[in-house]
Formats: sequence, C-alpha cells, structure tokens
Amino acid sequence: MNYSELAPPYIRAIAPYQPGKPISELERELGITGIVKLASNENPLGCSPLAVSAMHEAIKTIALYPDGNGFELKDALSGRYGVGHERIVLGNGSNDMLELAARAFLTVGDKAVYSAHAFAVYPLATQAVGGVGVSVPAIDFGHDLNAMLKAAIEHKVKLVFIANPNNPTGTFLSGDALLVFLRALPANILVLLDEAYNEYLPVECRYNSVSWLKEFPNLIISRTFSKAYGLAGLRVGYAFAHAQVADMMNRVRQPFNVNSVAQAAAVAAIHDTDFVMQTFALNMRGMKQVTDGLTRLGLGYIPSFGNFVSFRIANAAHVYRRLLELGVIVRPIASYDMPDYLRVSIGLESENEKFLSALKRILGEKQ
Ligand SMILES: Cc1ncc(COP(=O)(O)O)c(C=O)c1O
Repeated sequence: MNYSELAPPYIRAIAPYQPGKPISELERELGITGIVKLASNENPLGCSPLAVSAMHEAIKTIALYPDGNGFELKDALSGRYGVGHERIVLGNGSNDMLELAARAFLTVGDKAVYSAHAFAVYPLATQAVGGVGVSVPAIDFGHDLNAMLKAAIEHKVKLVFIANPNNPTGTFLSGDALLVFLRALPANILVLLDEAYNEYLPVECRYNSVSWLKEFPNLIISRTFSKAYGLAGLRVGYAFAHAQVADMMNRVRQPFNVNSVAQAAAVAAIHDTDFVMQTFALNMRGMKQVTDGLTRLGLGYIPSFGNFVSFRIANAAHVYRRLLELGVIVRPIASYDMPDYLRVSIGLESENEKFLSALKRILGEKQ
C-alpha cells in the first residue's frame, strides 16, 4: 500500500522546505575542507560569550524538563520591550510562531495572504493545516501592501503574513507604510509581522512595532534569536500579540517547545547588547564589501536590509554547483520563483572574499 495516501491531499501536496546545505554534507560529498557556508543567514561571529556560559550552567539541569512557561525568558523580553507575559509566546525558533499562528487560527479552507517571493514557510504553514494560500504579486521583489490589503479583503482571509525585511529578497517596508496598511485592514484579519532580521535594520529604517500592539489587537510580531543573536542551532523565537491571540497560540504549542539550554542562552543573549552591536557593524561592512564586489563583477543585486543579498546571475544553478566545488555554499532560490538569482549570506570579511573570488573565477570560465 502507498502510505502517503493515508495523509490528506493538502499534506501530500506540500513541497518540502529546502534548507541550506550543511558544511558536513559537502565535506562528505566532495572530500574537501575549509568550506564557507553563506547559505542560511547565520551569524558569522557565532553567539554571545554570555550565552555560552549560560548554556554550560543550564546543562547541569538537563535531566529536568524545561520551564514550560519560559518564565525567565518572558521576564527578560518583558523587561526589554515592556510587553506583559500574557502577550508573549515562545517558540522553537520563530518558525514555530508561523506554524502556531496557522494552527491556532486557520482550518481547512481558510485563507492566508502572503507576497510572492516571501519566506517559504508561510505557504508551508498554511498548507499544513489545509489552509489556502493567496500569493500576491510583488513590486520590485518587495511586498505590495496595497494589493495585499485588497486581496485580504476580497478573499476574506483570516491571516496575512508580512516579512520585514523579507527573505530571500531583503526588501523592506517602512514603519509608515506598515501603519497605513494596519489602519486600513479590518480588525478581524490577523497580521503576522515577521521581523526575523529586525536587528539588522539600518538605524534610519527602524520603527517601533511593539508600540503598535496597543492600537492593533490583530497584530502578531514574531522575532528570533537565530539571526543577530547567533543561536540558530538552539531554536528559540518569540511572538508578541494581544493576550487572547497569544493564549490561542499557546494552546496549540507543545508544552515544552523551547528547551532549557535554549531558554537560558536566550536570556543571557538579550543582555549582551554589545554582541548585537558588533554583529550589526560587521554586517554593514560585509554588506558593502559583498555588494561592491558584485558590482565590480558586473552583477546586479536586490538592495537588502538583512544579513544576506540576492544577486542576479546567468546559469544560476550551474554557478551554485561550481561555488560548491570551490568550497562556498550559497542558496539557490529557484523555488522562490527566482531561478536567475542566488542568495548569499554576509559572512566574515575573509568568507566574503572567498565567495567573491570564487565567483570571479567562475565568471571567467567558459560555460
Ligand atoms: C523571514 C524569516 N522568518 C523566519 C525565519 C525562521 O527562523 P528561525 O525559526 O530560526 O527563527 C527565517 C529563517 O530563515 C526567516 O528568514
């Protein structure tokens, strides 16, 4: 018998998420070392030393279940952002927030809106609960908020996903544009504002979405410790929302969805503002290095507000494979309907250099 047929058709129709290739896999495949991974928007500085010490401490109590309510982490977030515990949801990465929102609020046939070229997990989370995704064409690879508003109302959707900045395009929506959208959207439509790359925003682009929660009870803000905090392997994220919304999301989460080591590390990481500032500064320099390098090579790119940039290149699939052979892992984004683009994460100066020189070499080869 075909066991996949036991799953509902909407589950069978899911196209699996394709993660960045791990270094160990490429080492096994090609027998090479010194590989640089610039494929998953990770933090090239690692994580805060304070988080490392907190993890060592937390390991001593690993035989015990974690605090299922994540009191200390909620307290740290509450102290930092002024949001009460009842408005916080903790997750196994912010990916969990996207799934919890879909699971709590969508059922078979319910609709969710997202932009074309937006983060792949929005359609996945929608489809996994039998929801119907409405993908709205982008403008210059960014979210078209007017068209998304129209689609949300016309299609009677329950949930809108917005990534700001978006991955993989790196595009950004100003705080003012988001406010106009939120004010025009009927209050019975939820908005999940995914701010996974929030800490990378240039100072002049920053806006205070947390302060909007009072005005918009339908707003869910999700953030993560995976990117600027450098804790991707631990899987910790969080959301801020209206207490009733947070309550529904908390009801569908696993009771112990954030492990104790991750909780302890996240609490310590929040307090290490110097580390986040160093990360930010390194990313600004690296972004300039990479985009200047791409320009020198005659390649166009989408200006990015995150810690990655997508650039246009002929024969992208071939270039991706050649980069692998030269020990550089980037991300093909054909599955985002961008077959002529590759996405590269910003690394250390030496890693960026290795990427640019490998790319230069490939461009000089006969194809
Ligand atoms: C836009 C966006 N949202 C959410 C996530 C999920 O990250 P995590 O689950 O590690 O917090 C990512 C990861 O790449 C992302 O790019």
